[in-house]
Amino acid sequence: MRTETGTTFQLSDYRESDFIVDAVDLTFRLDPERTEVVSTLTVRRRPGVSPDAPFVLDGDEVELKSVSVDGQTMAEEDVAETGNGLRLSNLPGQAAFSLTITSEIAPERNTQLMGLYRSSGVYTTQCEAEGFRRITFFPDRPDVLAVYTTRIEADRESAPLLLANGNCIETGDLGEGRHYAVWHDPHPKPSYLFALVAGDLGVLEDDFTTASGREVALKIYVEHGKEARAAYAMDSLKRSMRWDEERFGREYDLDIFMIVAVSDFNMGAMENKGLNVFNDKYVLADPEIATDADYANIEAIIAHEYFHNWTGNRITCRDWFQLCLKEGLTVYRDHEFSADQRSRPVKRIAEVRLLKAHQFPEDAGPLAHPVRPDRYREISNFYTATVYEKGSEVVRMIATLLGEDGFRKGMDLYFDRHDGEAATIEDFLACFEDATGFDLGQFRLWYDQAGTPVVSVSTVWDPGSRRFTASFEQSVPATPGQAKKDVMHIPLRFGLVLPDGSEAEPTSVTGARVTDDVLHLTQRSQTVQFDGVSARPVLSLNRGFCAPINVHFEQAPADLAHLARHESDPFARWQALNAYAMRVLVEAVAKERAGGTVDVDPALAETMIATAEDETLEPAFRAQALALPGENDIAREIGNDIDPDAIFAARRAVQTVIGKTGAEIFARLADTMETPGAYSPDAASAGKRAFRHALMTYLSLADASPARANEAFAAADNMTDLSQPLLLLAHFFPESEGANAALATFEERFHDTPLVIDKWLSAQATAPGAATLERVRMLMEGEHFSRSNPNRVRALIGAFAAGNPTGFNRADGAGFAFLADEVLAIDGRNPQVAARLLTTMRSWRSLEEGRRRHARAALERIAAADKLSSDVRDIVDRTLA
Ligand code: ARG
Ligand code: ZN
Repeated sequence: MRTETGTTFQLSDYRESDFIVDAVDLTFRLDPERTEVVSTLTVRRRPGVSPDAPFVLDGDEVELKSVSVDGQTMAEEDVAETGNGLRLSNLPGQAAFSLTITSEIAPERNTQLMGLYRSSGVYTTQCEAEGFRRITFFPDRPDVLAVYTTRIEADRESAPLLLANGNCIETGDLGEGRHYAVWHDPHPKPSYLFALVAGDLGVLEDDFTTASGREVALKIYVEHGKEARAAYAMDSLKRSMRWDEERFGREYDLDIFMIVAVSDFNMGAMENKGLNVFNDKYVLADPEIATDADYANIEAIIAHEYFHNWTGNRITCRDWFQLCLKEGLTVYRDHEFSADQRSRPVKRIAEVRLLKAHQFPEDAGPLAHPVRPDRYREISNFYTATVYEKGSEVVRMIATLLGEDGFRKGMDLYFDRHDGEAATIEDFLACFEDATGFDLGQFRLWYDQAGTPVVSVSTVWDPGSRRFTASFEQSVPATPGQAKKDVMHIPLRFGLVLPDGSEAEPTSVTGARVTDDVLHLTQRSQTVQFDGVSARPVLSLNRGFCAPINVHFEQAPADLAHLARHESDPFARWQALNAYAMRVLVEAVAKERAGGTVDVDPALAETMIATAEDETLEPAFRAQALALPGENDIAREIGNDIDPDAIFAARRAVQTVIGKTGAEIFARLADTMETPGAYSPDAASAGKRAFRHALMTYLSLADASPARANEAFAAADNMTDLSQPLLLLAHFFPESEGANAALATFEERFHDTPLVIDKWLSAQATAPGAATLERVRMLMEGEHFSRSNPNRVRALIGAFAAGNPTGFNRADGAGFAFLADEVLAIDGRNPQVAARLLTTMRSWRSLEEGRRRHARAALERIAAADKLSSDVRDIVDRTLA
């Protein structure tokens, strides 16, 4: 384990490497306990570098056997093992040379799941960000690009399949039951994109012809017998490949594209060149085991990893500070892909919900960092919602500023100019400026300043002069290391909605630049006048959630209701309805805490019911309209002195009122949402199921009875229709006979499908209330849980900590103490999983005092442990700072 070193890496310290590696030839002699790795690098000193400069290579848990230069073993005094790598001295000054390093690793004992490890008998690798150094000694940084040739030797029986990046150029027999394969990847790449897989797997095959006529073999490798479950992933892959050609003019560039599904994986998936490795959760699906949400995730993640082939692989990152260069951009691309495959407004609602649920709290807490951080202690901790999701939002804003054509021109120039290079955010932005002439000088602060900007708005309507005035004040909250912020360029799509629902077309706008329907805020405070407005308009601001900001705008409930009914942009309708619901919920929480009874503005219920009834809207949208902000959303909105029990009670009360008010209509609507025939994962059918479930939730509350859920559970013939009533029963009627029976039935039916058992674990872990902790402990003792499998840990402990506000934040602090125990227990075997679990504590300071004290004690106990990984040390220190 890499333990804390206290080293902080700074963006401003970047230096090119002294040595250039042109080619890497690897030979793996695979063995679970002793895998020999022979690495031969073709190296040159960078022009201008002193002939005495040593070659420094990274290494972590690699046992060195020998080092030779041009076939000559190096003198012992020239080879120094530094604890985190090698320092080689007395190397040739001018000429290129060949450096051969022989070393050993033990895949079987690699519990961190970084580097080369074994999962269910399959050898697999994960190198991003710094895993390659756990395979062999190497300058393990993304700006060292080389052409790789990989020879794999292994037992034929246990590993008939030998895969690496690129094209297979040779296979053969070695006698004594061993065989080999050689793979060559012609595209220079950084070490983090290296991959190797060896084992015994089944395959689903297909093919794809690119726009220019290249035939590509497509292969998805899964556990034997599960091949059919890869069909949706394959379909998603082919649609992704076509889409990237049509939308961005990007073609695939090898003769084969492979995906391997593994069951022990720290993250979602990995874009290794030509050989993506996936968490099996994001590959395997059929109607019996996967929900609509699973299908949507598979589609999005298959696309994401595929799109990395251009944004990440062909053009990679100069250093890890630039992570958003590939991640933010690729998330933006996968968002656009899903929007084109499904419903654009519904997709956008889901994105915004996710952004607010994960990124906003990160940006508002102790772990806040810029989209492009300028310092880090442990890079693994920067695969965050800020880098990914806010990074994507920043790219979306560039597209908003430049328009579709301008954005495409900038992207074309980027691909053209930087293909084969390791680039920076500056390089990226320069392409858009050079292609369009647009000045992104102020805009680029979005990459450097952390914290969610706040825009405060007030408006005045003067009927006499027909002038509508809107005043804006922007600010960016202080974040760790950034007390003072500069003024940002915030693009806001807007509309002025008239009483009849049509849109005002002012004769003039002064006080801010407006391009099409985008208002540009570029000063700390700005007053904008709209003249020639025919009647009092309602300002619809930040349509499409154009800018990822918090808007403080005391819009009257009647105005929000007006937008919710009349906005032409469906996303804006949802946004208004959501803001309205939030207002009511926050008031309800205050009442609840003061000991009063919660009452609900009848106009909110009416507006929600009217939206549900609106046949012009697609069912998926209506489902979103009915979904109230979650408990964590409400907590974020309140901001401090949080009492999760009060939030829960108030929200449940509001939900019940809406259910009772709408009961008759909801019941009628539910009957119209049948999806006859065999299950199909398409977006329209999924939308009907989602809507039906939203209705069922309200109706069950109105009835105060689990009867509907029991019935739905019994009738279900697919995982979506089965898991929704299961959740409803477990969360709303946990004491009922039906809940226990459903959980038992579910377990019995799926006990040998761990991915489905994860749903069973999560359903129980997220059941509200203090008693759930004991249930979680009990489940940890059961046969289905294992601390060594990241999916199980996330499904049970992760779901409890992140998705159960009342259970985790128990007033007695037992939830925090439990999490601390688990973080410490898991850290020794898998620091990345432990560190990720610990981030669920990030909002601890916003809790009410009693809980805050308990949370601090738990964090301090972790901080005081005498052996922590650098990952957990980094998170705990920042969380407490
Ligand atoms: N590049 C991968 C992806 O976004 C994720 C790698 C995550 N690595 C990590 N150390 N967390 O698809
Ligand atoms: Zn990615």
